[in-house]
Amino acid sequence: MADYSSSPFAGKTFGVTIDKLNKSFDGVPVLRDVSLEVRPGEIFVIMGPSGSGKSVLLKHVAGLELPTSGRVRIGDYDAADPQTRDRVHLALVFQAGALFNSMTVYDNLALYPREHRLCNEAGIRERVLRTLQILSLEKAVDKFPGELSGGMKKRVAIARALVMEPELLLYDEPTSELDPVMSATITEIIATLREQTAVTTLVVSHDRDLALAIADRMAVIMDGRIHAIGKPGEFKNPADPAIANFLNPTIDLKHPRFQQLENDHE
Ligand SMILES: Nc1ncnc2c1ncn2[C@@H]1O[C@H](COP(=O)(O)OP(=O)(O)OP(=O)(O)O)[C@@H](O)[C@H]1O
Ligand SMILES: [Mg+2]
Repeated sequence: MADYSSSPFAGKTFGVTIDKLNKSFDGVPVLRDVSLEVRPGEIFVIMGPSGSGKSVLLKHVAGLELPTSGRVRIGDYDAADPQTRDRVHLALVFQAGALFNSMTVYDNLALYPREHRLCNEAGIRERVLRTLQILSLEKAVDKFPGELSGGMKKRVAIARALVMEPELLLYDEPTSELDPVMSATITEIIATLREQTAVTTLVVSHDRDLALAIADRMAVIMDGRIHAIGKPGEFKNPADPAIANFLNPTIDLKHPRFQQLENDHE
């Protein structure tokens, strides 16, 4: 990956403070009293099973969902205040990539800088090409998302976030649906970008390998509630059986459901 540290991307960053956040949809609680602090410049990974509230939590940081009660702050700004998006360059890499299929990779990357009038077209071009180079995507510049592999789409989604020169970088399941080699590549990219830019990085993911490899600190969320926060080393042999089973699931082949499968095959 190209060196990023001397580029204009490296700059200011913000911490995130989540304070007693509750969120319900139609009276059904999805986040319950979530409190945690992401320190400036750290990689913080939130792990949890499907449906535990990870994406909803990340959307609160991005200001895309509003709390039922409690607060999320980015530096000193309230994440729920629409003006915060003018003050903090935050970028969210969406779970499904959310690329525009009718636009080339180049136009996907140029869209937000154009919309926000970050610079003139020549400046945008330079920025887009430099970002594609950082993510080894030069050859994809004129392709449409439908022509790319899943791993390339993930990298384009990251590139589109980076092109805005984020001061806070949020990733939703950056390694889902990727093979182990591509997952490791994306994990390395996340760590390298933080190393070179010192940007505060909040990742939500099921990926235990990613969390243990690159998190400075991590948390496990289950059923909308934070169960544990600590350094990755503290999660290697968790005492809480629910966390142990989530991080190190065992498959019991003697379980009645497998006996049933065996019977079905006879
Ligand atoms: N806009 C919404 N309206 C109603 N319910 C919602 C909404 N968004 C999320 N939920 C519900 O909130 C719960 C948590 O959803 P969320 O998407 O945060 O899960 P997740 O932890 O990201 O899961 P996954 O790992 O599968 O991505 C789910 O039960 C989901 O159905
Ligand atoms: Mg999700």
